[in-house]
Amino acid sequence: MIAAECEPWAKTGGLADVVDALARALGRLPRRPVEPVDVFLPRYRSIAVPAAAVARTVRVPDPAALGGTTGIRVVDVPGDGYRLRLVDHPPAFDRDGFYGDAGGDYPDNAWRFGLFCRAALETLRTDGRPLDVVQIHDWHAAPAVLFRDRWYADDPIVGRAAAVATIHNLAYHGWTPRERLGELGLAPGDALASGEMFLPADADGLDLLRAAIERSELVNTVSPGFAIEALTPDYGMGLDGALRAKGDRFFGILNGLDNALWNPATDGDLVAHYSRRSLKGKAEDRRDLLRRVGFDPDDRGAVLGMIGRLDPQKGFDLVAGAADRLVERGARLVVLGSGHPEQLAGLRALADRRPDRVALIEAFDRVLARRIYAGIDLFLMPSRFEPCGQGQMIALRYGSPPIVRRTGGLRDTVVDELTEPGEGTGFAFDDATPDALVAACDAAISLYERGGAPWSGLVRRGMAVDFGWETGPAPRYLEAFERAVAVRRG
Ligand code: GLC
Repeated sequence: MIAAECEPWAKTGGLADVVDALARALGRLPRRPVEPVDVFLPRYRSIAVPAAAVARTVRVPDPAALGGTTGIRVVDVPGDGYRLRLVDHPPAFDRDGFYGDAGGDYPDNAWRFGLFCRAALETLRTDGRPLDVVQIHDWHAAPAVLFRDRWYADDPIVGRAAAVATIHNLAYHGWTPRERLGELGLAPGDALASGEMFLPADADGLDLLRAAIERSELVNTVSPGFAIEALTPDYGMGLDGALRAKGDRFFGILNGLDNALWNPATDGDLVAHYSRRSLKGKAEDRRDLLRRVGFDPDDRGAVLGMIGRLDPQKGFDLVAGAADRLVERGARLVVLGSGHPEQLAGLRALADRRPDRVALIEAFDRVLARRIYAGIDLFLMPSRFEPCGQGQMIALRYGSPPIVRRTGGLRDTVVDELTEPGEGTGFAFDDATPDALVAACDAAISLYERGGAPWSGLVRRGMAVDFGWETGPAPRYLEAFERAVAVRRG
């Protein structure tokens, strides 16, 4: 696997959790890949190299280097069920952010992630072990498949490998303008070894994700629901045509959730443990959370929580537009978000005015996130689009029914109690508007306030859903890898 994020070393979003959990789950399958999975990850500034690591250097072409090549250190770290391979090149990755800083994306991202991918392929080539599949996650790994076709077509190891492109986020394409193509070692008018046109001479740039979609043997996204939506102009982000052209070589595999990492019966960050059989501890966790965020711990009124990257995708603005009405109705809100703080602007004034009812925490805080999942009554996830989503799965497992927009992976993972009374696990609404969100919250809060068997049944059904990696998603990826190999070998 080649990826820009992997828990616990580097995370901004769900990509990191999925790369780590999938790599581990593949290694635990009864019918598993013959070799443990390798995960290539840039060595960002925040990653401390463990003492047990083994390093070596690969030499790769580098358009930015004097003499045209650069030595890059690749540091192997024994991971939990897979091998982490840190690509350590300080000029590219010893920076404050992964993708950019306060001023926006780093302008040389094509060079940074291109070099990262080139180092990964060169490591695999010089390892000399047989290689069946390279799984590339999102656009940051897309150069790997371009480079395979451009420079390794005849290589017995890398050239033989099949590529599976896994799309976690269709909104980020890795657009590389014409004047920066040289950073990838490419130029307009470049042809492949086979003579097939690679980049039209008049190209104004290169969409890396599109190129990976076109060149990978198989392409998947992280839920069947989003795989259908992504074929439409509304959700395809300009790549719906490229995805439609893949036919049945584009499909969805629903992400799993690591049941051992996310378990309220064992979670070490909670003051009290609980399970489907005994929910007593959840009440204690609720009091603990409310105290921590400055709310009255004895108030029984509904507490709604939201956690996520501060990205327009996630619908923080819808919550901001609904917040006044929710607070008026007696609800309280706990919002934890990291990323672009301007997305919380609409909520800040209300939080300043009503600190007893609205808590805004602008941070990336793993521990507080767990306390929120456990301590709230309802979880908000009003995403505009959602390839899979992880928060709603965690909320289900922690007995906090999610209120979601009916889209992508949210549609696939939450059963709406309003349309399927007695069978639901949460609440779903359609329109991406504050009004629709308020209506869904209204219905959810009413059910919560009534309590009794209808409410506890909803909570318990949610907690019983099993999203385990080993039973569903990991075997499906293994099948996909085998199919990709068959496609590659004709
Ligand atoms: C991205 C998507 C999210 C998905 C995650 C892991 O963050 O936005 O929907 O759950 O990747 O696949």
